[in-house]
Amino acid sequence: MSRDKQKPDTSPEPRGEVTDDLLEHEYDGIREYDNPLPRWWVWMFWGSFWFSVLYFFHYHVGGQGTSVAQAYVEELQIAREEQAKASLGEAVTEQALAKMMADTALMADTESLYAQRCAQCHADKGQGLIGPNLTDDHYVHGGTLMEIYQVVAHGVLAKGMPEWERQLTPIELRKIVAYVGSMRGTNVAGKAPEGNQVGLAALLEAAKDGAAPPSGAAAPSGAAPGGAPSAEAPTGEVPAPSGAPSGEAAP
Ligand code: HEC
Repeated sequence: MSRDKQKPDTSPEPRGEVTDDLLEHEYDGIREYDNPLPRWWVWMFWGSFWFSVLYFFHYHVGGQGTSVAQAYVEELQIAREEQAKASLGEAVTEQALAKMMADTALMADTESLYAQRCAQCHADKGQGLIGPNLTDDHYVHGGTLMEIYQVVAHGVLAKGMPEWERQLTPIELRKIVAYVGSMRGTNVAGKAPEGNQVGLAALLEAAKDGAAPPSGAAAPSGAAPGGAPSAEAPTGEVPAPSGAPSGEAAP
């Protein structure tokens, strides 16, 4: 472009080859050429300006379209789903289900499936409606994940519990069972307990991190009196709490 040849010229007098018009105004003896911006630049400016207006109304006012953050969340969801599907190669076991149950993000993804398929009979938090309360420690058909799997997969047609194996994909079935597992012991007030009481504490302990509990959850040897049950048994002495030697009543 020829403009480049005419680098800033501070002299007030235009040089011979300059063809631009001088503008009228003059400040402290400085005058200005009428140098319009190149067309392509102006087009880009207005193009991006109008794009931003449309963008603003589309995403922010209209709430349509997928934002970058939303797209990221969705991609993560898909990735978790894919990862979960990898487990379909394995047989359904208590441990495989417990592992899914321990995946809190996957369980959060499953919430909508529960709301869609199960909530009308078991209520939104599992507190029971037509179907039993799934949050207490009483079960008609047992409280292990495999027992839950059996009921959900095959239903109890005579009592009105559908046979979900026919209506859900295999991965949905596993996820929903794990989800029901994660409701155990949340004790949402609702339908009165039905069935038999199960040892929920032990079941939940077993399901933690999708692994079997280390055998013998007995008190650590030489435990301090009144020591709270702790997961990892310290080998040595239990360190005294700093400060208060006989600290009972701390207001
Ligand atoms: C049309 C109503 C209905 C729907 C929908 C329904 N259930 Fe049920 N569900 C029942 C009934 C009724 C029972 C009680 C069966 C019995 O008493 O033997 C039951 C029992 C159960 C049990 C056994 C509870 C126990 O105490 O042993 C589980 C677990 C369960 N449902 C999970 C689910 C899941 C997961 C879904 C969604 C995929 C679902 N249900 C959808 C009606 C329903």
